[in-house]
Amino acid sequence: MEKFDGKKINTAVFISGRGSNLKSLIKYNKKKNSLFKIILVISDNPKAKGLVYAKRSNIKKYIVNFKNKNISEKKLLKKLFYYNINLICLAGFMRILSGNFLKKFKHPILNIHPSLLPKYKGLNTHRRVIQNNEKYSGSTVHLVTSKLDSGKIILQKRVKISKYEKENTLEKKILKIEHRLYCMAIKKFLLNL
Ligand code: GRF
Repeated sequence: MEKFDGKKINTAVFISGRGSNLKSLIKYNKKKNSLFKIILVISDNPKAKGLVYAKRSNIKKYIVNFKNKNISEKKLLKKLFYYNINLICLAGFMRILSGNFLKKFKHPILNIHPSLLPKYKGLNTHRRVIQNNEKYSGSTVHLVTSKLDSGKIILQKRVKISKYEKENTLEKKILKIEHRLYCMAIKKFLLNL
């Protein structure tokens, strides 16, 4: 993608569930000086709670069930091209996009992952972090490649793990920083800082 030229970037956010990151991205995208505009919210789950945020802000939603990945991704690409989407932000999207999809989309795809990558890729990060008695955890925004949670890191923030930390308290702590982190990371990425 070329360097940010002052025009807001047409963005699609992909979710599967709660959508608290989507909520904060929507809040940011409404600001006058926001660098991106959320045009579409995509979900593989018609019951995703986060879809309510798209509805409240009159953002188009598109549900694609991923039962057949190949067909679903083809439909998805069609939608993304139709709406001229130049950036995808994955925010709690529980599917892995195929290499073919990444190749065909051609624009950047960002993801937010609740650990200090490259440590703790994949699922159940908080549980594993606590089991391993880590002192810190955090969240990472990175570029998506065909390898899980492995693309270039855009921005990372850490949190301290307390002595009595539980999975749910760590999750809450990290979610809180994620909401700001994702917006900051997109800004940094688009400005090519
Ligand atoms: C976040 O912790 C994000 O890092 C991970 O999934 C969670 C999504 O939360 N990929 P929400 O749906 O945005 O509330």
